[in-house]
Amino acid sequence: MPDVIIAPSILSADFAHLGRDIDAVVSAGARWIHVDVMDGVFVPNITIGPVVVKSIRRTTRAFLDCHLMITEPDRYIDDFRSAGADGITVHAEATRHLQRTLATIRGMGLKAGVSLNPSTPLDAVRYCLADLDLLLIMTVNPGFGGQSFISSMLQKISDAKAMIGGHPIQLQVDGGVTKENLAMLAQAGVENMVAGSSIFSTPDPGKTVKEMIDIVRSVQR
Ligand code: DX5
Ligand code: ZN
Repeated sequence: MPDVIIAPSILSADFAHLGRDIDAVVSAGARWIHVDVMDGVFVPNITIGPVVVKSIRRTTRAFLDCHLMITEPDRYIDDFRSAGADGITVHAEATRHLQRTLATIRGMGLKAGVSLNPSTPLDAVRYCLADLDLLLIMTVNPGFGGQSFISSMLQKISDAKAMIGGHPIQLQVDGGVTKENLAMLAQAGVENMVAGSSIFSTPDPGKTVKEMIDIVRSVQR
């Protein structure tokens, strides 16, 4: 079984010292960096865009996992690709022709992901499984870091696992992931965990990442 991936979300990092914060978590063993892109329309918050991804790309070889919480994501896929994204995740709620969007992402040689808001049923992706590399189950309503995990999403995670079946699709969760619920999520079959505030709000983000990796490894053993 491959190691569960811990994907630190830079939303909670110190944007004035982004290179330093990324280096700390990558040196500690994080292989993915989760980049939250928000447009103030799809979600009630505005964050960063391709120019920041381009700068990050120069500082790390980690997988850049770009989570687009924006309307009409198709308009920006190429910008994120040329900025150096490795994977692009779009929200099923934000695009009219999801299958086409996924094919566009894959056609550019990137990993294609779909994210579902807590209230969105799994049926939104059921007929696109062959087009997907990653399924992101939001465990908070997107827009902000530091929110609490919505416990009813545990049922959705288990239903998603069943729906994925033998398809080579990574199951990712995002929102309210902490050292306390990591083991439970790994046991539920989650393969990729995004965590923002529970990493970057600690005094030593690198140490926290190491502790998280140890927790998921102990469950996998
Ligand atoms: C929320 C973002 C998350 C966020 C998670 O809309 O998609 O990636 O950074 O933050 P935490 O881990 O603090 O809930
Ligand atoms: Zn995210």
